[in-house]
Amino acid sequence: MTDQYERSAEFVDVMLTPHWTVLGPALAEALRGAPGPVVDVGAGGGHGTRAIAQALPEAEIFAVEPSPGLRAVLMARVNESPALRDRVTVLASGLLEAALPPGLGAMVAMNVIGHFDPAGRRAIWELLAGRLLPGGRAVLNLQPPAEPTVVPQTRFSDLRIGRRRYEGWGRAEPAGPDLVTWHMTYRVVQDGEPPEEVEVNYAWWVLGADRLRAELTEHGLRVAPTGPADLGLWLITRAEDVTA
Ligand SMILES: C[S@@+](CC[C@H](N)C(=O)[O-])C[C@H]1O[C@@H](n2cnc3c(N)ncnc32)[C@H](O)[C@@H]1O
Repeated sequence: MTDQYERSAEFVDVMLTPHWTVLGPALAEALRGAPGPVVDVGAGGGHGTRAIAQALPEAEIFAVEPSPGLRAVLMARVNESPALRDRVTVLASGLLEAALPPGLGAMVAMNVIGHFDPAGRRAIWELLAGRLLPGGRAVLNLQPPAEPTVVPQTRFSDLRIGRRRYEGWGRAEPAGPDLVTWHMTYRVVQDGEPPEEVEVNYAWWVLGADRLRAELTEHGLRVAPTGPADLGLWLITRAEDVTA
């Protein structure tokens, strides 16, 4: 698997930090009462892993992260916290290649579902249908666009570390019936010096709420919105499970 985050890993985790200040509490609420173990899909640098560990202090966590760059951040974050080091296992593969426990209490997929094509999503729904324990659930977020449309260049991050400012910019364009290409620019600015820029592109499979619901229904799963509407969070449970 090629590392789509090889050149952006140093920016991605820090730029996701503000998002996690709002995502973390909403995720914790959605996970309340869930059993373990928990899979953090595409854990990145571990913001979500840490939020899961706080929300479910007894649960064992499997943090699945294929990108060596982001996994380095994740390993450091897990290693520095005794609470995480004891019960977080970092798996260096994609979700569909990961050796996971036979029963899953929860699966968390934050800012990642667009990395899976329709066949990959189907495999995830099959995994959930086959392995979710009673009271178990999955939580994921859908990010715009829900259709393959043009997203104009937008600055989504602007932060300062030391003497440098770090800006994150992104634009998207259609690349197929269910696909967009994101063009990301990470700009490092220091007074008096020319900005340094890192540009990366990646494919993102678009998905809207109606299609999500239809796909899950086919697998005996039900889905409901959870948390503040602007976060696009969805809670997935087994259709027949009355304990969740
Ligand atoms: C935008 S980052 C989000 C990281 C983290 N979930 C967060 O919100 O802070 C997307 C992550 O998905 C991971 N990813 C991409 N393809 C994946 C796959 N097939 N299985 C698991 N993770 C994947 C990437 O390596 C990256 O860490």
